[in-house]
Amino acid sequence: MSDIAQLVSAQQRDNIAIITIDNPPVNATSQAVRAGLLAEIESADGNPGIAAIVIRCAGRTFTAGGDIREFGKPPLLPMLFDTCARIEACSKPVVCAYHGTALGGGFEIGLASHLRIAAMGTQLGLPEVKLGLVPGAGGTQRLPRLIGIPAALDFAATGRFMKAEEALKLGAIDAIVDDDLLECAIEAARAAVGKLMRRSGEQPVVAVSAEQAQELLSGVRRKARGQEAPVIAAQLVIESAGLSTRQGVVREREEFNRLMETQQGRAMRHIFFAEREAARIPGLEQATARDIQMAGVVGCGTMGAGICVALLDAGYNVVVIEQNAEGAERGRARIASILERNIASGRLTEKAMAERMRRLTSGHDLTGLAPCNFVIEAVFDDLDVKRTLFANLSNIVRDDCILATNTSYLDPNAIARGTKNPQRVVGMHFFAPANIMRLVEAVRAAHTSSETLATALAIARKLRKLPIFSGACEGFIGNRLYSYYRRQCEFMLEEGALPHEIDKAMEDWGLPMGPFRAFDLSGLDIAWALRKRQTATRDPVSRYSHISDRLCEIGRFGQKTQTGWYRYENGKPVPDDVTTTIIEQASRDKNITRRSFTADEIRIRLVTALANEGARALEEGIALRASDIDLVYINGYGWPAWLGGPMFQASEFGLSRILEEVQKMHARDGSEFTPARLLVEAVKQGKSIGDRL
Ligand code: 3HC
Repeated sequence: MSDIAQLVSAQQRDNIAIITIDNPPVNATSQAVRAGLLAEIESADGNPGIAAIVIRCAGRTFTAGGDIREFGKPPLLPMLFDTCARIEACSKPVVCAYHGTALGGGFEIGLASHLRIAAMGTQLGLPEVKLGLVPGAGGTQRLPRLIGIPAALDFAATGRFMKAEEALKLGAIDAIVDDDLLECAIEAARAAVGKLMRRSGEQPVVAVSAEQAQELLSGVRRKARGQEAPVIAAQLVIESAGLSTRQGVVREREEFNRLMETQQGRAMRHIFFAEREAARIPGLEQATARDIQMAGVVGCGTMGAGICVALLDAGYNVVVIEQNAEGAERGRARIASILERNIASGRLTEKAMAERMRRLTSGHDLTGLAPCNFVIEAVFDDLDVKRTLFANLSNIVRDDCILATNTSYLDPNAIARGTKNPQRVVGMHFFAPANIMRLVEAVRAAHTSSETLATALAIARKLRKLPIFSGACEGFIGNRLYSYYRRQCEFMLEEGALPHEIDKAMEDWGLPMGPFRAFDLSGLDIAWALRKRQTATRDPVSRYSHISDRLCEIGRFGQKTQTGWYRYENGKPVPDDVTTTIIEQASRDKNITRRSFTADEIRIRLVTALANEGARALEEGIALRASDIDLVYINGYGWPAWLGGPMFQASEFGLSRILEEVQKMHARDGSEFTPARLLVEAVKQGKSIGDRL
């Protein structure tokens, strides 16, 4: 039996041909599937004993679209758009039976069929934009012919999934069935024999006015924030009104092929696979996560309240403890106000909020945590405070209760010291606002057991977060790298750049917020306090910029004091002479002749700072993969997915260029910027950065 015969097969029931795609895990339309489907359609069309055809998939889902592993390689015929054209042209009715997640090319196979039915619970969509692409098998041309331009544009430009009920209401499918899908499809095929066939590609499209088109496009452009694919997808949908389906599919294909080669396309495919890879943690294959019945949170400030909301949203019963009765009351009010904001934005109903508040117990006595089998602390980030808390907690909670620390910098090993059973201590570093940000660094300390780590990962996933493994070190992956990034930002100021120039270079590149605006937003005082603590241990010969200290000394702590790197006027950052004077004085103090920087110089320097320290984190096993580091920056530090993250960008700049840059840093800025061994080796061996340097 050939591959094709295995992946696509046909059976005959009376005069109905049943074509089955069976390509686990998600029935992706690989070359063999496309060829098999085409061959079976042609065979059924030419067979006088067949009156109608059903296309279905075996396994857990209808096809989830093109085989992403084939992308970026030379195209293999037949292309899916040809197979779809052949399905549409078939002289016999073709019924598509969707189930599971019918996505991209999968959805498009159905759009080219003459009738679409879906099992209850099916989700449909054109998620190609999430891979930096546009649909490539007629999706942007056939969908508007079924549901109109505005609705089709929404799906093609956002990649959002539609539930079967919505698809039926819009007219994207013809029926939802809750009986045996195959039997219903056969029934529908029988009923269609001899009737007029409705070919999607032959339906007219209702054009939108030029003004409406502009409005739709500018809405997409605004939300896309620099990503190209959504805008192109929207344009293609709008253009469908002026083109035949055949012409439109040619246009669509040109754009699909072009986007495939762009950096954004490569970056987004990298991120797709990175996310799946991040779930694999060596050594944890056999570990089972524990079932958590009741979760406890200590501390209900901004972070603690966000964590409580995330836990409540995920269905946990939550006990939250503050220092005193007023603190507990304030904490409860803080949680309620986050939930109320979610009601205002339409994300939550009043009933759902009331139900969440019923699952919340607040108090100011740690003994209230006794029934919990998972407790996370979100108290002030101070080692003594956390160590004492954990020692106290371990006398209150059950011996098997998992104790998680949400510290962003401190060593979880030091926090675990003095705790009974340090195997149950784990770091879970959330990012603010904790109920919204997707990243959680799951930190394994020296004694953390596999079961504890597996439970922390499972909880994070239940919270719909993306947990990324990190070893224990100061700042874990994200903040460890960030301190090198921050320092290079400040060094560039000493050498001649100004904050708004660096911000502009990074924002024009795609970051939603440049580094100095971000520093101002999170507050300069926290990093200042940290630097003061480190003064005694700092290497006296390593380069140190005092600019940020000078700002803090005069009370400029960022947005919260209306002045920081910028001055804030009605919430808007304005470059400020006071900052410029401090910066210029710093250059004079160090006898540095100020010079200007190009945007490219700024970007490569900052990517180098992150990538070199990222490579060192890989060497030490703090990060498991370069792609995990990219995920940390995309999900915790605002990098857009289409930039692919700092390690991806280092490969795009070229590792030799990165190495040259880090050598310059080393010579100029000191031993902390020594080139990472992995980076040197990768350049020597001519390797790409890949998942391991
Ligand atoms: N191609 C190749 N492999 C795919 C794939 C695809 N389209 N979709 C999923 N997979 C693989 C994953 O890499 C994973 O492999 P692994 O086990 O080796 O890591 C496995 O299938 C299971 O995937 P998930 O872990 O993501 O499983 P979930 O159940 O969580 O999610 C899903 C299933 C919703 C289908 C999700 O995988 C998904 O969103 N897939 C991508 C869908 C997509 O983007 N389709 C459009 C492709 S482009 C296209 O169709 C072009 C066309 O217009 C011509």
